Amino acid sequence: MSKIRVLSVFGTRPEAIKMAPLVHAMAQNDELESLVCVTAQHREMLDQVLTAFSVEPQYDLNIMQPSQTLSTITVKALSGLESVLEQSRPDLVLVHGDTSTTFVAALAAFYHRIPVGHVEAGLRSFDKYSPYPEEANRRLTGVLADLHFAPTKQNALNLQREGTVKNVFITGNTVIDALHTTVRDGYRFELDELNGLDYGARRVVLLTAHRRENYGQPMENIMAAVRELAGQYPDALFVYPVHLSPYVQQTARSVLSGLENVLLIPPLGVLDMHNLMARCYLIMTDSGGLQEEAPALGKPVLVLRRETERPEAVDAGTVLLAGVEKSAIVAAACRLFDDTGAWRAMSHAVNPYGDGQACRRIVQDILYHFGRAVSPADDFIPR
Ligand code: UD1
Ligand code: UDP
Repeated sequence: MSKIRVLSVFGTRPEAIKMAPLVHAMAQNDELESLVCVTAQHREMLDQVLTAFSVEPQYDLNIMQPSQTLSTITVKALSGLESVLEQSRPDLVLVHGDTSTTFVAALAAFYHRIPVGHVEAGLRSFDKYSPYPEEANRRLTGVLADLHFAPTKQNALNLQREGTVKNVFITGNTVIDALHTTVRDGYRFELDELNGLDYGARRVVLLTAHRRENYGQPMENIMAAVRELAGQYPDALFVYPVHLSPYVQQTARSVLSGLENVLLIPPLGVLDMHNLMARCYLIMTDSGGLQEEAPALGKPVLVLRRETERPEAVDAGTVLLAGVEKSAIVAAACRLFDDTGAWRAMSHAVNPYGDGQACRRIVQDILYHFGRAVSPADDFIPR
């Protein structure tokens, strides 16, 4: 019997981090042939991940442009994928999450009548413009998908409420599989500055911010809040790996440059990032992935957004929605600096998003769908 040919298509840093363990799991299975196409919607930040996880794409569309618009990503990726799909003729196209690459790859596969598997399906904020454009990307991808790999039961219920009940699998999030391979005791950072820090003695706050819906006043509020906190807590160190988006670079540098206890650094390699998360005191972020990783590491998170499509850790009490107003962000952070009880209450490790077995489940579910396994995988149940 011939192998089932699976083409994974991704383009940005978070998709690559979450797809890398799955690409490896599929390559190790005798029934599957695993191919990878990157749109390279991100270039440097994608390449950092490909190198860290030793993923070598068969196809690279290399579409990124400085300050690209949603339309240019869409047009370039859609036309580039045309010939990749014609050449590779996969039995299944796998996409991940909610980026422009995700939606466009699902659309391209649909145009070629190739079945689509959606990894990280079913997350919903129920607000079309927040996260923007990700909420719509994820929903549109769901409409085009044939297999839905929902990380949590809540995500599967969201799909069910929309009438999607067939081929929905509850797998856990592959990011937890990735995390199991990256965090280690005694890790030496590639960025040497991070090796010299005494994480026990000095409170290190890790900051990231990049969301399009936060461009403008919200992003300025976030930066102003960090500036105020840095002044109020001179003993703390704010470490900020700044996203390469020109808008984010410009805003971060104009508000936060030159402060003694704010370290503005380039995007970190994923090994450095995960190990820094494991050692820090507090995380302030608008990232989706960090909201999933931090709870597994027992780190409190202040989410710099008005909503989240990841309510599980908020419910578990380790993630707090701080919003995008300066005073609210400052107040939430001050509480975690000044009240050790409040900090401790948010610092317990919980795993609502995965148990490190998501890739095994997804592989089995794919085999089952193609009649090569007798049953689908067990559901992920948080413990
Ligand atoms: C994209 C995703 C977002 C995801 C984020 C992860 C969309 C619409 N948005 O947003 O869902 O959370 O990636 O980080 O798909 N740049 C570089 N080098 C890089 C990466 C980016 O220079 O390696 C710069 C470029 O100028 C690029 C800009 O950043 O034009 C924005 O990149 P883009 O992918 O359009 O948007 P993100 O904000 O990164
Ligand atoms: N990350 C990284 N280096 C950084 C910042 C983030 O490796 O400097 C990782 C992070 O650990 C997580 C992922 O990138 O796995 C999240 O990506 P991002 O915040 O860009 O996107 P989102 O998750 O919001 O879509």
